[in-house]
Amino acid sequence: MSWLTTTFSSSLGKKLIMALTGLFLCTFLVVHLIGNLQLLKADGGASFNLYAKFMTSNPLIKTTSYLLYLSILGHAFWGLSLVFKNKKARPVGYHASNNSSTWNSRNMGLLGTIVLAFIIGHMAQFWWKYHNPGSSYPLVTIEGEQYYDLYIMVIHAFKEAWMVGLYVIAMAAIAFHLHHGFQSAFQTLGINHAKYTPTIKVLGAVFAYVTSAAFAFIPVYIFLFVKG
Ligand code: HEM
Repeated sequence: MSWLTTTFSSSLGKKLIMALTGLFLCTFLVVHLIGNLQLLKADGGASFNLYAKFMTSNPLIKTTSYLLYLSILGHAFWGLSLVFKNKKARPVGYHASNNSSTWNSRNMGLLGTIVLAFIIGHMAQFWWKYHNPGSSYPLVTIEGEQYYDLYIMVIHAFKEAWMVGLYVIAMAAIAFHLHHGFQSAFQTLGINHAKYTPTIKVLGAVFAYVTSAAFAFIPVYIFLFVKG
């Protein structure tokens, strides 16, 4: 087992965990976004509630969810541990003249902390309430069956301007975090080639900004156009 503890505590081992968990979390974001886009359908929440029910009752997805929670915790824990280790090794930090690093890359710890705070608040707001509903939780009947009305809960949340603002700010932090994180994961995995790296960097930027903008669009659209 000592090889395992050595791997997990070495910088390279930590970076490897960051890369693998980070890419897994990117896949989750795509699936989550596709599900959340159901909120934009003008069907009174039928598609979104069906999707939510499927995601919480399908055994394979339930198992993958545990991997997701572990990945979020592992990514945050080893990420912060790398940040503190780097701070100790280089207490003065980068100088502005170090032009090989970008603002995003120098602030991955700060951006990651904002993203983690967002995920904790976000899960308390929707996920926790959906899994532990009180007696006042609204119900909806779809195709003769009763479901918890997660759609109504999301719509109510995004009828508050400050909440929409908070989500838009969090999505900006996610965009910057992903912009550096995506290409950095490929570098850590050794996929670093003069021919492929420029394409990976462009793909990373497109992924980061398109995904985050689409997530940010949902609360803005609900606030402006959906009747609450
Ligand atoms: C407008 C944007 C978003 C909306 C409307 C939204 C909505 C929701 C809802 C309703 C749930 C509870 C239902 C469920 O457990 O599947 C949920 C769960 C969750 N959300 Fe979001 N979400 C958004 C953005 C994000 C982003 C950007 C992240 C990550 C950075 C995220 C991470 C999570 C996680 C980790 C869960 C728990 C998933 C699970 O248990 O499988 N969400 N979201």
